Amino acid sequence: MKVILGICGSIAAYKAATLIRLLVKSGADVRVVMTPDASNFITPLTLSTLSKNPVLVDYFTPETGEWNNHVELGLWGDVMIIAPASANTIAKMAGGLCDNLLMAVYLSAKCPVYFAPAMDLDMWKHTATQENIDKIRSFGNTLIPPGTGELASGLHGEGRMAEPEEIIDFLFSDIKSKQPLANQKMLVTAGPTYEAIDPVRFIGNHSSGKMGFAIADELAKLGADVTLVSGPSAQISGEHSVKRINVTSAAEMLDACLQNYSNAKACIMSAAVADYTPVTVAQQKIKKKEDGFSIDLKKTTDILNELGRKKSTGQILVGFALETNDEEINAIDKLQRKNLDFIVLNSLSDEGAGFKKDTNKITIIDKALVKTVYDLKTKDDVARDICAKIVELIKNENI
Ligand code: CTP
Repeated sequence: MKVILGICGSIAAYKAATLIRLLVKSGADVRVVMTPDASNFITPLTLSTLSKNPVLVDYFTPETGEWNNHVELGLWGDVMIIAPASANTIAKMAGGLCDNLLMAVYLSAKCPVYFAPAMDLDMWKHTATQENIDKIRSFGNTLIPPGTGELASGLHGEGRMAEPEEIIDFLFSDIKSKQPLANQKMLVTAGPTYEAIDPVRFIGNHSSGKMGFAIADELAKLGADVTLVSGPSAQISGEHSVKRINVTSAAEMLDACLQNYSNAKACIMSAAVADYTPVTVAQQKIKKKEDGFSIDLKKTTDILNELGRKKSTGQILVGFALETNDEEINAIDKLQRKNLDFIVLNSLSDEGAGFKKDTNKITIIDKALVKTVYDLKTKDDVARDICAKIVELIKNENI
């Protein structure tokens, strides 16, 4: 996340140092712009060292002869936080005044703006301040409320800037709550399953799990609460919030899915589940025989089919079909037989699609049999397309 941190002249400016450290620690790229008065409270050197980026105060940096492009900085940020936000700066924000670089960046920024006021209790309570706050909130700016406690004046009351940890918690939970899949539980399967023959051998397949992991990560980025049931796979999820359940066999995958199904809004079954498993698993390693050798197999439970049978109103179920011939006919048959909302069709005849590849080429067919054909893309981009379809279904409650 690219964060523009605006700092105003207030004793609370010293808290900006901790705020920058916490933002950087969370993985954010932070650029600081401060009012000239703020640099009386904390030095730009401290803040540039912590943010690992130059700190901007004026339109023009005399040492380098550089003009500081406020428009570029305003457009760079994913989010702008003004902390501390003084009564003076809040008034300027409400009136659209532009007498310093911070205000020019604020007026140029297209990203969400958060502001954490810091001032004395009577300044905070003043009708002018409260009206200015109402006004900038009506612009879409978000107030990070001040706390109550001892103030710089020695008085006790409301107006203390929120602590840096509180600002971080507020920011992340607010961003998360505004994401398209916030508070939605999602279940994803990925990878192959291994069906044991004896203690050292199994029946498996070449699935790497890349597609399922990319989908789980993308759903998490959209704010979903994701459970990923993965067969044996070397993949690692890039999103810390994804809850991974490791399984080996189709039977274990079925159990894990059933346990996490009832409260899932959407289930995306991208695992390459074995269709058959040995009838018995030899307790000891099977020794080689003179001639041929055969293993009796029985059908595994079709997990997707099972979930389709149990599907309740409002749940979304997505399956995959990997086909070599009569692709669309086979995919539509699976879509309808398994009670899916849409099916993602991969054709092995498409170059760049299939197991162990970094790319995929898909066609999505929904239950109204509307077909969308996508170009060959990276699996991350394909995951984005699939998740966009889920967001669209949820948004339209078109389930
Ligand atoms: N699937 C499943 N459980 C199984 C088998 C498959 O959940 N035991 C799911 C896969 O995760 C995928 C879809 O079903 O989403 C694939 O459908 P399937 O009919 O099994 O396709 P194929 O394995 O290709 O089988 P077929 O031989 O019928 O084409």
